[in-house]
This record gives sequence, structure tokens and C-alpha cells, in this order.
Amino acid sequence: MAARIIDGKALAAQVKARVRAGVEECVRQGVQPCLAVLLVGDDPASEVYVRGKAKDCEECGIRSLVERLPADTTQAELLARLAQLAADDSVHGILVQLPLPAQIDERAVIEAIPPQKDVDGFTPVNVGRMMIGEKCFLPCTPAGCLEMLNAAGVDPAGKRAVVIGRSNIVGKPAAMLLLARNATVTICHSRTKDLVSICAGADILVAAVGRPKFVTGDMIKPGAAVIDVGINRDENGKLCGDVDFAAAAEKAGCITPVPGGVGLMTRAMLMVNTLQAARNTL
Ligand code: GUN
Repeated sequence: MAARIIDGKALAAQVKARVRAGVEECVRQGVQPCLAVLLVGDDPASEVYVRGKAKDCEECGIRSLVERLPADTTQAELLARLAQLAADDSVHGILVQLPLPAQIDERAVIEAIPPQKDVDGFTPVNVGRMMIGEKCFLPCTPAGCLEMLNAAGVDPAGKRAVVIGRSNIVGKPAAMLLLARNATVTICHSRTKDLVSICAGADILVAAVGRPKFVTGDMIKPGAAVIDVGINRDENGKLCGDVDFAAAAEKAGCITPVPGGVGLMTRAMLMVNTLQAARNTL
């Protein structure tokens, strides 16, 4: 039986339509939501992501400030600019596109973002609040994954969830959000033994490895919900996820495609967080 496809494009459009209505209400109350995006250097993938974020802002009625800084920007220069944006009441969300050039300490930069403007949910305050289930900005990719499960009618409670990948941006927070929804969560990584059998027991499988078609058909439990966070190029240069989609779709109950899946929801969740940051100032 073929899996249901969880349509990230349709779902992201719904989320953005809701954000747009919220932005209009916010503006009526006297606050124009604004997101500042800082891009240091000229990483081509980052350039694509930043353009996408600006387009989403436009669709949602959010003002966007995109600042491009040269690749040789010093840490002091970047921190000085962040301090200005932090102090600017007309800016509600601040996002520094990662990765940063080697001369800049990523953690120092993230910690210079005030938690109330940290729409990526990367600062220690937001990470800590997420861990203890307090109100906070959730990191956009894991939040998007949960929205996709929700849209597919998958309630994580009591299910076996397996997350492959333990990054601070995706794997770890995705595991925490699934735990908060009462799943029984296993985190797998490069040193995990028996990866295939662990994955094959998963009712919910989240793949965040960064390797094309890493998850093969034998790793999918029949009827499982498969969330593919990967954005890779295959041997022919074609965009593909971390999951071998064709093989997985034959066994899964529902699955997210790449492209057209989690990536679009990540962007939509950034709009949700930016609106929330603006509302919090009302
Ligand atoms: N680079 C890749 N993904 C992300 C993200 O979610 N936020 C930021 N700031 N940079 C990224």
C-alpha cells in the first residue's frame, strides 16, 4: 500500500495565511511585525534560504530587513550590529543565518540575540524553556515536524518515536518535542549500533542525518509516519532527502516529500515565531 504524502506546500500555505491574518490584526493594534535576517559571507545555500525567508515575510505582511555582511566581517563587527538590532524596538525577530565564517564564534553570536527576539529558538534561554515545557520560541524545523505529524492525524502519545541525528538545531529539539507529546523517544546517531532494527521498530521516524537516501526501505515499520528533514543532492544532482522516498513510501503510512516537505514548514514556523515576537510587545 502506498503511503499518504504529507503536503508541506499546502500546509505551509495554511500556516502563512493564518500568520497573515494575525499580522493584519497586529498592525491594527499599532505594531508592524519585523524580522531582521543577517547573512555573513556568500554561502550559496544560505543565500537561497535567506531569499526564501524574505519572500515568506512579504507573503505574510511582515517587514523584512535582510543585511548582507562581507565574508571577512569580524566577530566584533557582527556583535556590534546585533547590539543595535537588539536595542531597536521596531525589530521583533533577529535571525543570523548559519553557518558563519570560521573566524566567528557561533555560540557567542547566538547568545547576543535577546531571547525575546530569538525567533530561531537557538538561545540557551529558549532551549532551556523548551526542555522544561515553558512558553518559548520553538526551533522552526522541529516545530514544523510536529505540525506535519499533527496534520497527518498522528498523535505521538504512547508511540515509539526514533530520531536519527542529534544536532542542536534539529535532532535534540525534535526528540524533546516528541517527548513532550508523550512519545517514547530514541535518539540515534553515528555511533548507534543496530540502527536498522531500532528504526524498523519506530511508529514515528524522523530523519535528520544530512546524507542522501540514508534511510532505506528495511528501516521502515509498515504503517509508520516518516518525517524527512534532509535536503541533499543525489548522484544526479537532484534534490533528495535523507530517506529513500520510493522505497519508504511503499511501507510507510504517511511520509513527507523532499522537496515540498519539512523545508517549507520550517520557513512557515519562522513566520509564526516572528508574529508571536511582535505580539508579545503589544
Ligand atoms: N541554517 C540552516 N538552518 C538554519 C536555521 O534554521 N536557522 C538559521 N539561523 N540558520 C540555519
